[in-house]
Amino acid sequence: MSSLTPLPFTRPKHILSARQFGRPFLDYMYELINQIRKFDKTKDGLMYLQSLLAHRRAMLYFTQPSTRTFLSFQAACHILGIKPAEIRDPSTSSERKGESLEDSLRTFASYVDLIVMRSPTAGLSDRIATLLDETPRPVPIINAGSGPDEHPTQALLDIYTLQRSFRSSSGIEGKTICMVGDLKRGRTVRSLSHLLTNYPGVRLIFCSPQAFRIEDDLRQFLRSGGVQFEETPDFHQAIAAADAIYMTRVQDEYDVQGSVKVDYQAYCLRYEHLERLKSHCVIMHPLPRRDELDPAIDADPRAKYWRQERNGMWTRVALITILMGVDNHIVLPTL
Ligand code: CP
Repeated sequence: MSSLTPLPFTRPKHILSARQFGRPFLDYMYELINQIRKFDKTKDGLMYLQSLLAHRRAMLYFTQPSTRTFLSFQAACHILGIKPAEIRDPSTSSERKGESLEDSLRTFASYVDLIVMRSPTAGLSDRIATLLDETPRPVPIINAGSGPDEHPTQALLDIYTLQRSFRSSSGIEGKTICMVGDLKRGRTVRSLSHLLTNYPGVRLIFCSPQAFRIEDDLRQFLRSGGVQFEETPDFHQAIAAADAIYMTRVQDEYDVQGSVKVDYQAYCLRYEHLERLKSHCVIMHPLPRRDELDPAIDADPRAKYWRQERNGMWTRVALITILMGVDNHIVLPTL
């Protein structure tokens, strides 16, 4: 049997922000996911994974719509033997009777060992983690998307997908990554940009209409980290320069009454654009998509978004093993 080397980082108590992860964590996570995926090949392997946390329970508290993040966390719980409970609509919980969010979350912690939460409110998972840390029963919190602010587990699965896609071309270092779309309110873009600062030589191109440019805090963060980046409205030039393109949809769930509608048509990747891309270009999208990503592209070998989605499940399995302290049980059987 072979096992992974001891942790080269402090074990996180929670997963709240992409900013909490450095390169040793990212490299370890990549190796761990690859190891975990090997267990998927046999029934015995899957039964072994199911035994790791069969004594644990989780709450999936998703008060903002989700398909893949919810389902992949639910699947990750099942893979590890964790029994998940869920609330997806606060009108079915005692919040409807006036219970505060804080009391609701503290109540979950009375019954489960892990809370995964998605919310429309920026910073909420940080607040809840701080609150629960001061109680006699603190449990790990995973931020599964917090308003337009952060989506750290999406960014971690994006890094895994990039690293895997570039494994035969010296990794993510030195690559040009082009992010397209609603970069102002796209939390996946914010979290992924933070993680990409861990890879020397990465150049970021942010391509968007004027109204959807990145926020100033991200601009300052990249400048202070010495990261090479540019902002451009020129879609054709940006996609031609990219080693990876990260498409995003308009986040109009954050539109307030009176918001100006932005013409997005110039920021849609169409089948006819494929000939402009580098032959090795990786096409990604956190999904769900609308018309910014042509389904005719799905069959192109450079399209990685369906793998990215599946990678999300294994990434979340790995993250839960790290949080719950069973990652050191992931070993390779000798063949
Ligand atoms: N990428 C992502 O967060 O998808 P869902 O909103 O479907 O969870």
